[in-house]
Amino acid sequence: MSAPDTVDLTPLARPFDLDSDVAYRTWRSRKLAAAPLSAGELLVPIADGQDLSAMELDAMHGALARTNLVIYQLPGSRGADKVTIRQLGRQFGLERLDDNLCADEDSITSLTVVEKRSEGEYIPYTNKRLNWHTDGYYNPLDRQIRAVILHCVQPAAQGGENAFLDHEMAYIALRDRDPALIRALMAPDAMTIPANVQNGRQIRPEQSGPVFSVDRAGHLHMRYSARTRNVVWKDDAATRAAAEALLNLFRSDSPFILRHRLKSGQGVLTNNVLHCRTAFEDDAQRDQTRLLYRARYYDRVIDLRKQ
Ligand SMILES: [Fe+2]
Repeated sequence: MSAPDTVDLTPLARPFDLDSDVAYRTWRSRKLAAAPLSAGELLVPIADGQDLSAMELDAMHGALARTNLVIYQLPGSRGADKVTIRQLGRQFGLERLDDNLCADEDSITSLTVVEKRSEGEYIPYTNKRLNWHTDGYYNPLDRQIRAVILHCVQPAAQGGENAFLDHEMAYIALRDRDPALIRALMAPDAMTIPANVQNGRQIRPEQSGPVFSVDRAGHLHMRYSARTRNVVWKDDAATRAAAEALLNLFRSDSPFILRHRLKSGQGVLTNNVLHCRTAFEDDAQRDQTRLLYRARYYDRVIDLRKQ
């Protein structure tokens, strides 16, 4: 077998089709053989985020092919501005930022702790623990988040470690246990996010959809939140078993759960894999306040050199 970073895991067959066991077995064995067992294996130093070299692109696409995630490291202590993040994404075919179809740098969100504003406190702006999820699970199905860049300008004084689990690994864990679990999670009404209503005004309508779905190019997408509030699972035995199996996977000591605390100048580029975050503490007096830039895309990463 070729070296892991050159393995092409593009699903040429249909491994996510429950009726194609041979395709699944073939894809699965290659996927497991190439799987990284530490976040350090996915770290790629890059010199200029706006102009990646061929070697840097090779290394980053190699990591993404293995596990839908790469961690890059820019030189310098503070890393990059939003223009650099925007240009970095463009080199991976990431154009369409969430919330703004005429997208520009303004659609890249600065994540930092803000004072509690009102009833509807939005968790990513706090220092509390964030449970396992994929980004944008509450979005309409035609505006799902396929890729994310999360760039660390400055870490917290303490805590704020991320954990990542390739959603394809979660798929393997459940399908190996019982394909019925996957079938349940592919149902169009598997997981419903209730409408977000504040002060009598609907901010977001109810959104039902599958947890696992397959896009036109054959790539697996996952829409998921481990939150118990504001998530309604389909009320049948198979769906309940599948939701429980996912929670057990996160509680397990899976070697495929990769933990990493982003340093200044580091970021992750991911096909929106499962992730969570520990709580953190800022130290404003010493100017150690966590600041991350987050760009969410409707596009999935592509290798533009192969287009
Ligand atoms: Fe997230």
